Amino acid sequence: MSQLYTLLDRWWVDFRKGNPSADAVYQLLSAIEGTVAHDHIALRTFDHHTVDIDTVMAPLVAAGYVCQAEYVFPKTHVYSRHYEHDDVTLPKVFISQLEGSHFSQAFQGHLGRLLNQIPEGVPGQWDFFATAPPWEISFAVYEILKQESEYAAWVSAFGFQPTHFAVQTNLLVRYGDLTTLNSLLKGHGFILNTVGGEIQGSPKVFLEQSSLKAAETKVEFSDGTYLIPGTFYELAKRYLMPDGTLFKGFVTESAVTLFQNTDASALSVDSRNTL
Ligand code: NI
Repeated sequence: MSQLYTLLDRWWVDFRKGNPSADAVYQLLSAIEGTVAHDHIALRTFDHHTVDIDTVMAPLVAAGYVCQAEYVFPKTHVYSRHYEHDDVTLPKVFISQLEGSHFSQAFQGHLGRLLNQIPEGVPGQWDFFATAPPWEISFAVYEILKQESEYAAWVSAFGFQPTHFAVQTNLLVRYGDLTTLNSLLKGHGFILNTVGGEIQGSPKVFLEQSSLKAAETKVEFSDGTYLIPGTFYELAKRYLMPDGTLFKGFVTESAVTLFQNTDASALSVDSRNTL
């Protein structure tokens, strides 16, 4: 268990270091609210057998995380699951994997060459989630991957570190309403992601989310250093379902929730914030 807490701490420290604007939002909210907790942490991987969700989640599952639901994102060829821990103070883990077979031979070749550089035995260990990518990559290959999948390009540049942390806004006393919270942040000069609207989802699907614009991050590629969009901070607001319990799942472009009795057909939202 201590390794789990070490990993969660390291992710959080590295996330704040790599995204100073997220750190500033966290500091602002902490100053106003006292404490700020996180609803979830989002991870990405690929469906290749060496790094698929089952393989890389093994240490977290051994430390008590349990899969609660799975989701599909057919447009972007992504499959995902969310995991929860008995210790409810720990954030949910939302992890997705890109289905590589849907992409071109050239794309799969580049992806294969990256995955081949991961030291054997590391996936499935705590070290797998280190902040630095476990491979060398050129900006040229990053750009090639990006033409077919922004998701793959992001992982090629940033590795398996979390894409985002999401604030649990339900626990905020003064700024628990997302519209009010967004106004506060904009008033302080923070820039929200407005693609598809500032707030994604609705009380009808029991989840609303907003996110800060991804941090422009310097990445050292093998052929030079470039500024590209990196991690982002998210704000998640959950609503009570008709049975009186708080919705714990996620909303996808066409949701499949195998372990929950949510009406999947009612759910439709851009996948921008979720992955
Ligand atoms: Ni999220």
